[in-house]
Amino acid sequence: MAKPLSILFVTSEAYPYIKSGGIADVSYSLPMALRDLGHDIRIMLPKYGTVSERRNRIHEINRLRDIPIPMGKLSEPATVKSSSVFNPRTKVQAYITTNLTYFDALKGIYHDPKTGKEFPNNAERFAFFSRTVVETCMLLGWYPDLIHCNGWHTAFIPGFVRGLFANKFKKTKLVLTIHNFKQQGEYQDFNMSLTGFPKEVQSHYIQNKKINILKGGIYYSDFVTTVSPGYAKQILTDKEHGGGLGTSLKEKGSRFLGLLNGIDTYTWNPRQDDYLKHKMRSDFEEFKYNNKVELIKKIGWEYKPDVPLIGMISRLEEQKGTQLLLDSLEAIFKEKVQIVLLGLGEQETAKAVAKAEKKYSAKFKFFDEFNEQLAHLIEAGSDMFLMPSLYEPCGLNAMYSMVYGSIPIVHLTGGLANIVTPIDQKTMKGNTFVFNKFDTPDMVLAIKTAAKCFKDKELWETLIKNATNEDFTWSKSAQKYSEIYKELMK
Ligand code: GLC
Repeated sequence: MAKPLSILFVTSEAYPYIKSGGIADVSYSLPMALRDLGHDIRIMLPKYGTVSERRNRIHEINRLRDIPIPMGKLSEPATVKSSSVFNPRTKVQAYITTNLTYFDALKGIYHDPKTGKEFPNNAERFAFFSRTVVETCMLLGWYPDLIHCNGWHTAFIPGFVRGLFANKFKKTKLVLTIHNFKQQGEYQDFNMSLTGFPKEVQSHYIQNKKINILKGGIYYSDFVTTVSPGYAKQILTDKEHGGGLGTSLKEKGSRFLGLLNGIDTYTWNPRQDDYLKHKMRSDFEEFKYNNKVELIKKIGWEYKPDVPLIGMISRLEEQKGTQLLLDSLEAIFKEKVQIVLLGLGEQETAKAVAKAEKKYSAKFKFFDEFNEQLAHLIEAGSDMFLMPSLYEPCGLNAMYSMVYGSIPIVHLTGGLANIVTPIDQKTMKGNTFVFNKFDTPDMVLAIKTAAKCFKDKELWETLIKNATNEDFTWSKSAQKYSEIYKELMK
C-alpha cells in the first residue's frame, strides 16, 4: 500500500472495555480493519468505574501520569494508561484516560445506572476527556496525520485542535463520525469557559441559543461521516432526522458521507464464538437447536420446536421502538411466538417492560441488564430477531442476527435499508421480514408472516442460507475510510 497514516481514533466507548451500544463495537472493529490495511492506528477512550484494569491489562505509562488538564482557571489531573484491543490476527494500541471524579468514581458511561438518568455534568466530563486527548498528543510529541472522532462526546476535540492549538496540529486532519444525530450534546448551562475557547470558537458550538457540542465538531472537522448511506440521506432530506443539524451538514457538501459499518468477523462468528457453549460445527440446524435449547433453559421455559423464538437486544428507548413493542404485545401474542428481550433503559420504561413480562410470563422474557454473553446466546438461539426501530443509523444487530441465522424482522428505516433485503416468498429471495409503517398493524403483520414462513421448513432453510451468506465484513467501508483519509492528506 501507499504510505501508511498515523491515526488516533477517539471514542467514548469501545468493546471489550465498555459497551452501551453499537458504537463500542465499531470502535473495536473499525480500527482493527484499518490496522489490517497497514495504518498506524491507536484508539483512546475514558476508563469508567466498571472497567477493570486487571482484566483489561491496562498499565501505567510513566510519561503520562498526573497530567494537569486545564479546566477553565483550574486544572484537573488525568493519568493516561496503555492497553490494547485485539482479535487473533490484529492488535491495536489503546490509550485510556483515567480520572477519579469524572470517570472512575461513576458506575455508568453516560447514565446513572440507579436511575437511568444522564449524569448532569456530562458536557464537562467529555470536555475534560477531549482535552486529555490533545494534551496527550502534545506530551508525546505525536501529532497524528488524522484524529478520527466519534459522536458529540469527542466533538470538542476539533475545537481544541483548530481553535486552541492550530499551530501544533497544522498537519493533522479531523474526521468525525456521527452514530446518532439525536445525540448532539445539547446543554443550556454548561460553562463554556472551562474549554478555554475564544469567543469565536465558542460561537460555533451554539445552535438555537443552546450549546450544541456536535455542531462545533462538524464545523471544525475536515470530513464528517455517518454510519450508513440510507441514514445520511434521511439526515439531509428530513428535518426530523437531522435534529436541526441538516444545514450544518449541507455546508459540508461532498465532505459528508454515509458509510455502512461492518462487523468483526472473529468476535461475531458462530464457528469461533467464545461466548457460546455450542459453537457451530458443520450443521447449522444442530447449532440453532443447541443454542435455542440453552437459551430456553436459561429463561426457564420449556423447549417447543414449533414455536418461533424472537430475540431482541436493545436499549429501551424511543429510537428502538420500545413503546411500539409494548403497545403491540397483545396483538403479537395472538400468534404462537415467544419473545426474549435483553436491554437497559430509563427506570420508567424498564418498569413498564417488567410489568408486561409479568403479564405474559409464558411468552415474554425480559433481561434487565447489559450482558454481552447473553447477547451472543440470543443471536445464536433465537429463530428471528425483531428491530422495531423508529429510526436506525446503522443497526449492527441486524447484521449479527443474519450471521447467526436469526431472521430479522425490521422497520425498514435508515441503515437497516442498506443492510437487509426484504423477503419475497415466491422467489424465496431475501433475508428479512420488513414493515414500512411504524405502527402496530404493520409490525404485527410482519411477525405473522414470519411465523407462517417458519412452519415451511424448506422456505425457512433457504431464508437462513440467504441470511448467512451475506457479507458484512469491514473490507469495503474500511477501504473507503482509508481513501477518505488519503484524500484529506493531499
Ligand atoms: C448507534 C446507532 C446504531 C449504530 C451504532 C454504531 O448506536 O443507534 O444504529 O449501529 O451507533 O454506529
